[in-house]
Parts: sequence; C-alpha cells; structure tokens
Amino acid sequence: MTGTDTSWRETWAQRERVADHPDAPGLFLALAPMDGVTDAVYRGLLTEQFGGRSGISLCVSEFVRVTRDPVPAHVIRRHCPEVDTGGRTRAGVPVFVQLLGGDPTPMAATARRAAELGACGVDLNFGCPAKTVNSHDGGAKLLKEPDRIERITRAARDAVPHDVPVTVKIRIGWDSGDTIEEIARAAARGGATWLTVHARTRVQLYRPPVHWHVLARARDAAGALPVIANGDLFAPEDLARCAASSRCHAFMIGRGAMGSPGLFARARGWRQGPMPLPELAALLREYQARMRASGLPEARALCRVKQWLRMAAATRPDIVWLFNHIKVMRDWAPAAVALIAVERGALAAGEPDDALDRAG
Ligand SMILES: Cc1cc2nc3c(=O)[nH]c(=O)nc-3n(C[C@H](O)[C@H](O)[C@H](O)COP(=O)(O)O)c2cc1C
Repeated sequence: MTGTDTSWRETWAQRERVADHPDAPGLFLALAPMDGVTDAVYRGLLTEQFGGRSGISLCVSEFVRVTRDPVPAHVIRRHCPEVDTGGRTRAGVPVFVQLLGGDPTPMAATARRAAELGACGVDLNFGCPAKTVNSHDGGAKLLKEPDRIERITRAARDAVPHDVPVTVKIRIGWDSGDTIEEIARAAARGGATWLTVHARTRVQLYRPPVHWHVLARARDAAGALPVIANGDLFAPEDLARCAASSRCHAFMIGRGAMGSPGLFARARGWRQGPMPLPELAALLREYQARMRASGLPEARALCRVKQWLRMAAATRPDIVWLFNHIKVMRDWAPAAVALIAVERGALAAGEPDDALDRAG
C-alpha cells in the first residue's frame, strides 16, 4: 500500500466529517462554480438541503470578470450577496468570490475589495474555456503563461489579509497536460492556498476523456500545495476511482450536483442512491419559487428550471422524458402542474398525458 492509499483510506473513513479545508480531517467536497447556474439562489438551495446537512464544504461564486479597473462593490455583491451574511450561505457554508482576469493590478484590488466586503476567500479562475474570455486575456489562455498565473496569484495574495485564502482553479493545460507541473508550481510560488484542477485541457472543452491521472503529477509538483480534483464526479464511486488515479482526496463537483443534488450527502454515507424523481421535482419547484422571490422574471426562472433538467438529464437517463416534457412549455403554470404530478407519483416515464389531467 502506498502512502496515498493510506491517506485516502483515512479520508474515506472520516467522510462523515465535513472538512473546511482540503487538508483538514474529514472529506472536503466543494460545489463548483458554474456561470449562469450556481448563483446565490442555487447555492442557498443546495446547501440548505436535508436541514442544512448537505455535506457541502464550500461554494465558489460564478466568476466576476475583472478587466482594466477594480470591480465595484455592488458588482461583487451581485455575484456573491453572501458577503453581507459573513460570507456564508444561510446554512453556514462559506462562499469564495471567484475573479477572472489577466491583469495583476485590478485583480489584486478587486480581491482586496472582496475580502473587505466579507468574502471568506478569493478564487482565481484560470480555466474558463470561453472564446470571448480567452481572446480578451482571461481564463484558460493564462495556462499558456504560467509566470503570469504566478504574478496574478501573488498580487492577489499580497492584497488580502493573511487569514483569507486565495485559491487557484485551472485545467490541466491548453492542449495537453504536458505543462501541468509548471502551472502547479507557478500557483504554489504565487502563494495559492490550494489548487483546483479540472482534469481536461482547454481544447477539450467538456469532451471526454477526463484525465484524472494528470492530477497526480500536479500534486507531486505542487509540494505542500493541496490539489482538489474536479471533473466528471457523478457518483460516490467516482470519488474513489478519481482518488486512485489522481491521488487527490479533496474534490469539487459541478454538473454531478444537477442530476444528484444529494451527491455530497451520499458521498458521506448520509443518503443512499440518486435523488428520487419526486424529491427532485419538489426541489425544482422550490428553486423556481426562490428565483421568483429574488426578483427573476417568470420566463427566466422557467429557463433556469429547463436548464437544470437538461443538465440533469445528461447524466440521468431516467430524467430525459421529464426534460422533453417540460422543455416545450412556454409558461410556468403547466410546468408546475407536471412537477406536482411527478411529486405525487401521478406522472412517470412513459405515462400518457392524461396522467397530467388526473393530477391537475
Ligand atoms: C455551465 C457551466 C458554467 C461554468 N462556469 C464556471 C465559472 O464561472 N468558473 C469556473 O471556474 N468554472 C466554471 N465552470 C467549470 C466547472 O466549475 C467545472 O470545472 C467543470 O464543470 C467540471 O466539473 P464537473 O464535471 O463536476 O461539472 C463551468 C461549467 C459549466 C458546465
């Protein structure tokens, strides 16, 4: 048995304990930032599940774009309203503010502002694959210039108080994993508190395969810098497979939480199996209600519900029919009727539309 096996076994044995740092005792499971998905409403909903025992260690905000000037406080607040409640969700889970940009000076000033406002930590995004972002000196483009990753990280690190973590999120490289060591060392030299790695290249976007094994090289190169594994973690078994391949024992989960919002709790042994469809339907109705209460127009809230179902259906074939059923709806009312019918067990896959009439 290698030292890493021992460490993973220890982590797994203590998985019920929610670690608040990748190196703390217990299992560290972060909710990944997903622009257009994981806003404060979503973060609140997920972290409040099961009476606040969601199993989520940490959330990261959608990215705040930093260009020439420091970002004003109201923009940081819009991305991370939790700064006004101690930097935590209502369930008490810390939220880091994520920044995306290529210029150390406004990045550092924005990091300082986020910390002053009350952010629990600042995460730097060097993994975004969007063409518009990459062509304007941001996101994964920086993977080609590790020295700039180091400079930006150091500038942000120096700008915020010592006890506020500054973390870095990357992909394994631009078009290969060949430079992962160089990038990991740059983040470590810049003073990152930890490094999260999505185990794909920029060129891959979200296409398979996921290269968990490359993360082991990042770990070796990064010295004491903890490495968090990210990419294609859809079930608790994936954590064990990823740990064996990457030698990481802290994780970040994004799309897997859409199909299985209880995944964090499942990984800790608190719940069994994927969330039953009636429960997911109820969660989606709660999601819509919270979005409306936050001021989102009905049409946009409906789009978000459809988006959730589409992303969930990508990993849960048992949801595809429900997505197909709701995606054509133009108003919330019939979507709500369908979700209520699913909640009551009156509508299931393959059932004719008259099931809806019975439910309505
Ligand atoms: C719709 C969408 C939006 C995303 N937005 C962000 C973002 O704002 N910041 C970021 O660092 N990563 C972002 N990501 C990447 C995720 O954080 C994560 O690295 C990626 O989805 C792989 O993890 P997963 O397989 O668990 O989803 C986004 C991913 C998706 C699918």
